[in-house]
Amino acid sequence: MKNFFGFKDNKKNKIEINSDIKNIPQHIAIIMDGNGRWAKRKGLPRTLGHKSGVEALRGIVKECSKLKVKYLTVYAFSTENWKRPAQEVNVLMKLLVEYLKREIEELNSEGVVVKHIGDISKLPEICQQELIKAYEKTKPNKGLVLNLALNYGGRDEIIYALKKIGKEIQNGSLTCNSINEKLISDNLYTAKIPDPDIIIRTGGEQRLSNFLLWQCAYSEFWYTNVKWPDFKKEHLHQAIYSYQNRDRRYGGIK
Ligand code: IPE
Ligand code: IPE
Ligand code: MG
Repeated sequence: MKNFFGFKDNKKNKIEINSDIKNIPQHIAIIMDGNGRWAKRKGLPRTLGHKSGVEALRGIVKECSKLKVKYLTVYAFSTENWKRPAQEVNVLMKLLVEYLKREIEELNSEGVVVKHIGDISKLPEICQQELIKAYEKTKPNKGLVLNLALNYGGRDEIIYALKKIGKEIQNGSLTCNSINEKLISDNLYTAKIPDPDIIIRTGGEQRLSNFLLWQCAYSEFWYTNVKWPDFKKEHLHQAIYSYQNRDRRYGGIK
């Protein structure tokens, strides 16, 4: 596999990484897909796919921290994932709590801020408590912001923002004319977080599945057939390398 800069892995790799560190995307968002198919292929229950998915996440968070990525948003549970059997949903919630309890000390010592986006009020109480605890503990940190998208849906988020703006119009603190892109961005779950530079989707599907609909207007996309539990730092490097070779024109010309 080619490394970060498209060269075969060799001793120069480290120097090359350092030399292009300024081109690291500021915000990486990942649709962590393919856990169920990964497990099925191995003749295992889907839930073991999710368990291995958590391990993949650990590795990628570490690598993003090391590369000085500023924001990492990961799609962990969508507003549509409630359609799954209750047993699978319960396992996903349990894995979230276990992940937070097990990893929080290490994440904190690495300077990671653990945030969340999505309507967490619909999650089991214990999940909400652990998410709030994790944020309270890590919010003074200055390192990577790990943004967990939970019960997150892009459309749900836009409705949430419009309701907030609507209330302000109703009570007279805003007028219709004050609605602009910034106002909408500032009222999303991702307020104060820059739009993702790159969206990575594992598992081979080429769709957004209701992820960051507003924010990804000009994000670069990168897909891989690699299923999430098999996603390693080398794959992340491939995605970053691809990103670094894109020409972002934002509708203009060069
Ligand atoms: C992603 O893997 C994890 C979640 C959506 C929670 P999937 O569970 O969707 O795995 P596949 O797509 O069925 O293989
Ligand atoms: C997207 O994956 C949601 C997450 C990764 C959390 P899905 O597996 O739910 O998406 P679809 O059903 O293939 O679109
Ligand atoms: Mg899937």
